[in-house]
Order: sequence, then C-alpha cells, then structure tokens
Amino acid sequence: MGGVATGASETGPGTSAAGPAEQREFAAGLRALLEWLQAPVGGTRNEVVALVQDTLGPAGLERSVVARQLPLFEQVNLQAALDAWTRADGRGVEVRGVVLPPHFGGLDLQQLVTGEALPPVRLSAPSVVDLPDGPGSTRACLKLALLVVTDATGRYVLLVQGPNEHEPRLTVEVAGLPVAQAQAVLAELDRLRRELNVYRGRLVEVTPTPMGGVELTFLEPPGTVREDVVLPEPVLDRIERHALGVAEHRDALAAAGQHLKRGLLLYGPPGTGKTHTVRYLLGRMSGYTRLLLTGRSLGAVGSMAELARDLQPAVVVLEDVDLVAADRSFGPGGSPVLFDLLDAMDGAAPDADLLFVLTTNRADLLEPALAARPGRVDVAVEVDLPDAAARRRLLDLYGSGVPLRVTEADLTAAVERSDGVTASFLRELLRRAVLEALQEQGRLTAVTGRHLARALDDLLDSTQQVTRTLLGVGVDPATLPAGVPEPVPGVAWTSVRRFRGGYRP
Ligand SMILES: Nc1ncnc2c1ncn2[C@@H]1O[C@H](COP(=O)(O)OP(=O)(O)OP(=O)(O)O)[C@@H](O)[C@H]1O
Ligand SMILES: [Mg+2]
Repeated sequence: MGGVATGASETGPGTSAAGPAEQREFAAGLRALLEWLQAPVGGTRNEVVALVQDTLGPAGLERSVVARQLPLFEQVNLQAALDAWTRADGRGVEVRGVVLPPHFGGLDLQQLVTGEALPPVRLSAPSVVDLPDGPGSTRACLKLALLVVTDATGRYVLLVQGPNEHEPRLTVEVAGLPVAQAQAVLAELDRLRRELNVYRGRLVEVTPTPMGGVELTFLEPPGTVREDVVLPEPVLDRIERHALGVAEHRDALAAAGQHLKRGLLLYGPPGTGKTHTVRYLLGRMSGYTRLLLTGRSLGAVGSMAELARDLQPAVVVLEDVDLVAADRSFGPGGSPVLFDLLDAMDGAAPDADLLFVLTTNRADLLEPALAARPGRVDVAVEVDLPDAAARRRLLDLYGSGVPLRVTEADLTAAVERSDGVTASFLRELLRRAVLEALQEQGRLTAVTGRHLARALDDLLDSTQQVTRTLLGVGVDPATLPAGVPEPVPGVAWTSVRRFRGGYRP
C-alpha cells in the first residue's frame, strides 16, 4: 500500500460550541480567507509561485516546462510510479499540495513558473483521492500537488494534476531541467508506471465515463468451472485449445516462429452461453491481464489494446460487438467502431501473447467487416442452442441444488418439450418449478414432475412471448433489422443483458 508524503501540517476540525480560542481561530481563518480573495494577482508574490521560483533559481526559470498528458485510468499507476520514484536513492522529494478555489478548472506549471495569468492558488496539505489499486486495496493519489525535487540532476519541480469536476485531465509537468533531462524524468515515470501497473494480471472491467473516458474496475475472478459449461465437447475443446492451448505452449510456439496473438469469435443466439463460456475462460487464465469491454466502452478498444500489449500476457474481451458494428458515432473520423476495433486488434505485434475474444449474436453483421480485414479472428466457434442431450445436462446442472423428485419420464418429457430453448430458459424453468412447489407446499419439500410440467406450460404459453424473448427463445437475431439495432432493439438487448447480471459474481 502506498501513500504520499505530506509537507504541511494539518489544521484541526472546527467545533460547533465555540469557546474564545475557537473564535480567535475562526477570526484568523476568516482574515486569511479575505486576504487570499483580495490578494492582488501579480502584486505581492504568490506563495506557490515563490516556492517554484525560489526552487528553480534564475537558470531554472529560463527552461521550458515539459508536460505529459495521460489517460485518466493511469492515475493510480502514476501514483504508484511517483511513490517508487520518490523513494529512489539520492533523491529528496517534498510534496506540497496546491489549492485552487472552486470553479477554477486547472493550472499549468508555466503559470507557476512565470507567476502570470495565475488563479488565486495557495499551498496546503496535499489533497488525495483514494483509488483502488487492487481488488481489495486502495492507494492515496495526489489530486493537485507540487513535488520539489533534489537529486543528481539538480533541483526542479513536478506538478501533478489529476482530474477535477471541471477538467477531466491527468498531467505531469516538469520545470527547471533542460528539456532532454525533463523528458528522461517523464520516461522514467513511464517505465515505472508500466512496471508497477496495478492492472497487470488482474481481471478488469472497462466502463465508459460520462466525460467520454473509461474507468477500470477490478473484479474478482468468476468461479465458473468446466462442469458448469454445457456445450458439445468438441466445441468447448476447440475454444479451450485456441484460448488456453497457445498459452501453454507459448515458448515452443515462439521458438518455432509462430505467432501468439490470436482472435476467437464466439457467435450464436442469445442466451446460449457465450458470456458464460468467456467467464469460464477468464477464470482459467489467472496469470493473464484480463480486460472486459462491452457496449460503449468498446469505443476505447484502441487504448485498451495498447494497455493489453504493455501488460501481456493479456486477454481483451469484446462483448456483443454487433452493438457497435455500424455505429459511427464515437469512432475517430466517423469510421464504424467495428473497423477501429479490428484495426486495434491488428496493431499488436504478432509475437505478443494477446488473446482477443469477441462475442456476438449477429455473426451476419460482422462477417463483411471480418472478411474485409482478415487475420484478426483466426477461429470462429458457433455456440448453438442446446440439443436434447445438452438440455438434459442443463436440467441436471440447474437442478443440482433443488430437491427434485422427478421420474425419468418427467425429465424426458421436459427435454422433449423444451426443444429450441436456450440454457437461460432452462434455468428459469427450474426456478419457476421451485416457485410452483413453494406456492403449493408453503415451504420447499420437493419439486415434482407436476411442478416442472406446470412451469413449462406457463413458460411455453402463447401469452408469454415477451418472457420467452427475454430468455432468448424464439428470436432469430438475423430477422432483426439490418445495421445497428439502435435505438429500440439495441436498448432491448442491453436490458436483457443487465437482467442476466453480467460478470459480477
Ligand atoms: N451452455 C451453457 N451452459 C451452462 N449454462 C448456460 C449455458 N448457456 C447459458 N447458460 C446460462 O444462461 C445464462 C445466460 O447465458 P449467457 O449470458 O452466457 O448467454 P449469451 O450467449 O452470452 O447471450 P447473449 O448473446 O445475449 O449475450 C448464463 O449466465 C448461464 O447461467
Ligand atoms: Mg453475452
């Protein structure tokens, strides 16, 4: 767990029943506030400017400020890098917080170097934002702070600036060094960010933020095991071989000059287990950095593919890619997001141990794009509706925790009657059967063939078409309108997914 050094002392909290001492303190605080508000900009030297100028000296003040902008999700990695960099032998770092009054967007180090065009900034204890740096841990990250550095290169300052409600940006700036040396400092921070990257080897969900960026959230690995995935053996075997087999033989393949980067497409009707299978794979790939993208976060595939390259071996899951197949709204240059996505997949070096897993229930929409940009997906696996044997296994699977008192004939009847349904339909069927039993018995003693048959009657009832659609039965995705099924069907699919609960355990 890292932390940040504080350079200024803390002030105590105020109390409601104020005695004379508190009143004096309050008056002093008020006076300071009024002085701050009235301080002439460019008149007496601002204390932050004074700190910067006195640190740099006349020679340092002549030098260019070198700035680096980073994606917002790098904030916690930047802090990890700064914490390590600060501790390096022969380096002294004093961290001073900078306060900007509300409604002032941001600050440039150049303003502090020159003292010009300056908002009313003050020194303070550094304020921090506590960000997750692992599934159950956090790191205090500087929001706006000056680092006054003394090391072998000399005396210089860094300004670290994280996002605030006005400015969604993350920057590090260096002042007081010749440009090449400032670049070297930033390069060293880049190296440390990569080396200490908190996302390496983790399962991370990528979600869009209202500002147009992405947020990365740590997830616990799913507990889905092979026995939970009911697919024909050759199908599951093929998926495993492509996803996991290459990883197992990584060194031998690389030695034989064979590429490691690979793309796997899982396609098939809704509710057949594509996401479920992906969860299983992710659980198995524990050494891998695993990035999950879906919906609007697919627009960030470029930066996520880059991150995956840095953090390989890595898996990038692109869920429901059909939803963005023809969406030009958030791809650069108005090209369909799907093309950007495929281009991002191609950007990685072939010897990178990278797996892209795409899922869709509209293979027909993807095909032309995949054909136009060959080489991205090397294996496409159809995940189809369960056949009779699979339906039987699914009933066993979902019924394993249920006190089932059914005969072989009851089960055979249920399997026959459920021809053409999805796995999620069968799961719902068992839930309904349990409800039927509960309604009849008051508490759950046994779920019989009668309960199962009644639940099936209900779900197959012609008036239950919408319910069946939600469970992925009776919908042929190819009959949906061509192009992106937005806004109406797209919204409907999204809500179906949310209903199923996504990845969260
Ligand atoms: N083949 C399967 N084996 C076991 N369980 C399954 C299978 N398919 C689906 N399920 C169950 O149904 C749920 C929904 O399936 P899942 O979300 O994987 O469907 P999907 O193919 O991804 O559908 P969509 O195309 O709508 O995204 C799963 O969480 C799982 O409980
Ligand atoms: Mg899915």
